[in-house]
Amino acid sequence: MATTSQQLNASTESLHLQDRVAIVTGSSRGIGRQLALHLSSLGAKIVINYSSSNSSPADSLAADINAGSPPPRAIVVRADISDQAQVQSLFDSAERAFDSPVHILVNTAGVLDSTYPSVANTSIESFDRVFAVNARGAFLCAREAANRLKRGGGGRIILFSSSQVAALRPGFAAYTAAKAAVEAMTKILAKELKGTGITANCVAPGPIATELFFGGRSEEQVKKIIDESPLGRLGETKDVAPLVGFLASDAGEWVNDTMADVATIADVDFPKTFILQL
Ligand SMILES: NC(=O)c1ccc[n+]([C@@H]2O[C@H](COP(=O)([O-])OP(=O)(O)OC[C@H]3O[C@@H](n4cnc5c(N)ncnc54)[C@H](OP(=O)(O)O)[C@@H]3O)[C@@H](O)[C@H]2O)c1
Repeated sequence: MATTSQQLNASTESLHLQDRVAIVTGSSRGIGRQLALHLSSLGAKIVINYSSSNSSPADSLAADINAGSPPPRAIVVRADISDQAQVQSLFDSAERAFDSPVHILVNTAGVLDSTYPSVANTSIESFDRVFAVNARGAFLCAREAANRLKRGGGGRIILFSSSQVAALRPGFAAYTAAKAAVEAMTKILAKELKGTGITANCVAPGPIATELFFGGRSEEQVKKIIDESPLGRLGETKDVAPLVGFLASDAGEWVNDTMADVATIADVDFPKTFILQL
């Protein structure tokens, strides 16, 4: 019994990210926002990132995290992840604000064309935008992280894919192709980082109730997706957070070069709520 309780305590402690610095791109809203809150609850210092002209959601998240805990445990940095200079400046701001190398990159920033065009109807502008943020942005963030994350333990690169890569549904060609590129890049990156103590993994959620998910979908379409779900509901941002918290932790060190599906819908090859393909 004592052994079990000691093991439990050790396992709980290993989730602590005390004073590690985590950049969470796209954390003004949606999944990224929840991840910023969760990593902060595990002790990490958070860089909240967004790109639009509206700073209010990011500022209000930072205020929530910083409430009653000087010095600040969260800062806000506006940066478009598809822009090389802005990504470099995002990392510069993180290092300067917390006087520390960055330990964890979680790249959740992403966009979807909510008109769900077929390949035949996908405009160059739509394709370029989806690839600029989802593939080029992931590359720029991962490259910066590969060069600048802390070596020797605790370094984590967590990129975001989608269950669409397994589902291959019509209307998602550019989005799915960009996410597939991220998955392939992550697997190679993990190998290239051998010896650094930095792990690289991809998280691929199923449908999660965020603005990105609801964009352009009718109530009927949403209901159909819910009906297909083994749990009879959409995923929520809080369903994704524990997995990312685990991957970011010391306990997650052995998980490397994987694709983690967080799917609450049978839109992949078999129903599941959580699987790690090791
Ligand atoms: N929701 C789902 O069902 C689902 C399923 C599978 C995968 N995903 C993936 O999960 C990730 C998060 O999705 P979500 O549903 O949370 O999306 P969301 O609610 O639309 O939030 C997107 C976030 O990304 C930011 N962003 C967009 N373009 C950016 C850029 N160029 N540079 C920096 N930040 C940018 C947005 O910031 P602003 O506020 O400034 O616009 C916002 O914070 C995405 O990679 C998405 O592809 C989502």
